[in-house]
Amino acid sequence: MAGKNNKQKVRDAVKRHYADAIKLHTACCPPPPTELDIEGGYSLAKLSGYSRDELESVPETVTSFGCGNPVALADLQPGEVVLDLGAGAGLDLILAARKVGESGRVIGLDMTPEMIDVCRANLQKAGIENAEVRPGQMEDMPVADAEVDWIISNCVINLSPEKHKVFAEAYRVLKPGGKMMISDMVTHDLPDEYRDDMAAWVGCLAGALEEGEYVRLVEKTGFADVKVVDKLVYTAAMLAGFADEACCCGSQRKTASEGIVDRYADRVAAVKLFARKPG
Ligand SMILES: C[S@@+](CC[C@H](N)C(=O)[O-])C[C@H]1O[C@@H](n2cnc3c(N)ncnc32)[C@H](O)[C@@H]1O
Repeated sequence: MAGKNNKQKVRDAVKRHYADAIKLHTACCPPPPTELDIEGGYSLAKLSGYSRDELESVPETVTSFGCGNPVALADLQPGEVVLDLGAGAGLDLILAARKVGESGRVIGLDMTPEMIDVCRANLQKAGIENAEVRPGQMEDMPVADAEVDWIISNCVINLSPEKHKVFAEAYRVLKPGGKMMISDMVTHDLPDEYRDDMAAWVGCLAGALEEGEYVRLVEKTGFADVKVVDKLVYTAAMLAGFADEACCCGSQRKTASEGIVDRYADRVAAVKLFARKPG
């Protein structure tokens, strides 16, 4: 996906997809993630590692489009400033805001206006007062140099056609000694011809980097202590479970995902990656 036009095409498609996804979620009111958490079932929230207590502690309109639970793995402390890249409907923002407490603050960044509206409403419903949502792109963050102690992100960086810019920006806005806990998708030996499929790109698959390439890119940006602390390879049954969940009231999404299960099973994984800005 090289070239300026292609990058813009990817961004527009990603924005459209998440605007539609949050509208669909709001319109069809699927059951809360805890009800999908059945024995043998593969709901996104269950595989992401959210506890039942965490899911029950947020308003019902809060949903997850993530592939992990970065707040559970990040050692957030009271008083710290946290930036969530691609905050979506606000689940991780709410959990992080509670961890840093009144003396800390949380900034959510997102580029999709429809998602930002829902996120702000969810923060209000959850009674969160130490969080804000800033519209913008993670390749050019509306955040000051050295403004934050932590960066978290949940299944978002894979969507960027310019990942090197995202990590350069992450480095700039972190304080010296600041840390990242990123949950994101990576691939293993994914054939090149699968990478031009826009439906798979917006679904967090086709844009994902090979795991080694991901780690090297973060290290090349200047981060220290880069390590994958957890990894879950997605099987065909898991990918099929996500497709069922996503099509709760819209069969077109299921059709779009049919080829995806065969192509991506066992070739994609959700990793949780830690890194630290030296200093
Ligand atoms: C897969 S969803 C994940 C949302 C949330 N992190 C979660 O776990 O539910 C991706 C989100 O990232 C946002 N996004 C995608 N690319 C972005 C970019 N380049 N800059 C800012 N936000 C972006 C989308 O609008 C969407 O809300």
